[in-house]
Amino acid sequence: MSDESPAERAAFLREELNRHNRLYYVEARTEISDQEFDALLRELQEIETAHPELITPDSPTQRVGGAPIEGFTQIRHSVRMMSLDNTYSEEEMTAFFARVQKGLGREKVACVVEPKVDGVAISIRYEDGQLKHAVTRGDGTVGDDVTSNVKTIRRLPLKLPTSSPQTFEVRGEVFMTKEGFAKLNDERDEAGEARFANPRNATAGTLKQLDSRIAARRPLDIVFYGLASAEGINVESQSEVHQLLDDAGLRKADLVWRTDSAEGILEAIRDLDSKRKSLPYETDGAVVKVDAFGDQRELGETSKAPRWAIAYKYQAEQAITQLLSVDIQVGRTGALTPVARLTPVFLSGSTVSNATLHNFEEIARKDIRIGDTVVIEKAGEIIPAVVMVKKEMRTGTEAPVPVPTACPVCQTEVRKDEEQVVLRCPNPQCPEQVKRRMEHFVSRGAMDLRGLGESVVAQLVDLGLVKSVSDLYQLDELTLTRLERQGTKSIQNILKAIEDSKKQDPWRLLFGLGILH
Ligand code: IVH
Repeated sequence: MSDESPAERAAFLREELNRHNRLYYVEARTEISDQEFDALLRELQEIETAHPELITPDSPTQRVGGAPIEGFTQIRHSVRMMSLDNTYSEEEMTAFFARVQKGLGREKVACVVEPKVDGVAISIRYEDGQLKHAVTRGDGTVGDDVTSNVKTIRRLPLKLPTSSPQTFEVRGEVFMTKEGFAKLNDERDEAGEARFANPRNATAGTLKQLDSRIAARRPLDIVFYGLASAEGINVESQSEVHQLLDDAGLRKADLVWRTDSAEGILEAIRDLDSKRKSLPYETDGAVVKVDAFGDQRELGETSKAPRWAIAYKYQAEQAITQLLSVDIQVGRTGALTPVARLTPVFLSGSTVSNATLHNFEEIARKDIRIGDTVVIEKAGEIIPAVVMVKKEMRTGTEAPVPVPTACPVCQTEVRKDEEQVVLRCPNPQCPEQVKRRMEHFVSRGAMDLRGLGESVVAQLVDLGLVKSVSDLYQLDELTLTRLERQGTKSIQNILKAIEDSKKQDPWRLLFGLGILH
């Protein structure tokens, strides 16, 4: 190693890091630990800092984001990015297949059915095997160059294997996994920032960031479904595109069906519907494509969409109910979130009596009033939200939702956050905020103080026994006898849990304190 030049060592590290990245994301296995990976990455960073001329575009160090830019440059797509026609019923789907049969003059037509990933469309071009640019759809002809944001996606290879077409333009969808999205929103709560409404909004917002270091911290992911061009090879079907993507280490949709009849297509659509909840990303439909490119060419396209493909959109799971009242929840950081209390209604597997209204701006924008008949929606595992008002059902007795000027709990005058969206109680001693902070502190992911559930925390705060987490460690048996419904045994358990928590790992304490930013 000692007689290796910095250029040689950098090249070695780049290859190694890219190889480990590929192993992890494509083959789902690892040869080294995260720490070892980070150590190699740091070594490469150090060499590049000392010798900036050694930085290459495919260096894994380029994924961390760079200096903010003024605005996005526009790039013309080499092949137009079309959208798809939508259908919402099995009859329309059957009619689509009948048009295809008629157009091709035969009964059996091989088709593929893929999940319709609910993210943001992207076109990615590789030249000489290196990632050249990533462009949003824009108007289908020109889009925004969002390369620096897209490069932060660790699953995306910055360099293709030599066996793949070296000039290669592929189409796919950038998204956030359901899990990554939930975590991001939790972190935003923690930091006192506004929550994103859904993974697609969060993804679109992230791709529009002028500072790619922000994108680097967001859980973006990518999946591919199409080809714009591939140099030097003949690709003759969508099935071959799937194979080509696989070989290039570009992730394609996890589920694909192949069929040649209308009934087969409908079965695939129903099968996807039963499986899509367990996919890591949100899907809003199925895309049906005629498989053979020859057939696709014969069918052609309209001015906006191909005649050889169609999107079947699943009904978003919605229900109609009455908005009875609006409560205000005070979060750990003082953010005031309006919550709709509803006439209980059954929605995709459970009875729903509360839904989020996000914030007061949303209420104004959707003109939601108390007493309204509202449509609520549940997307994936996300808590239900009020999506719209049935204005035609108004009787005139509906009342506007009052915007609070004071915290409903401690009466401190509220403030708007910098983004002017979230209302906040600025009083850190607000009993509600203290409760939320305590609940976080004792939660399983933090100090894991069993026996200190929500009701005990509420009583401790309401009785003035604790004002901050440090007060927990002053509690004794006599004080705890003031709690309702807690016998000697549970009091002993609480004291033991508090005592045991002193031995918890330091990271649990640090996380439990929930320090802003
Ligand atoms: S094919 C000409 N396949 O849905 C064919 N699109 O409304 C164009 N999408 O812009 C698209 N999953 O962003 C195709 N498996 C899939 C897809 C998919 C998601 C998105 C894509 C497209 C939009 C069409």
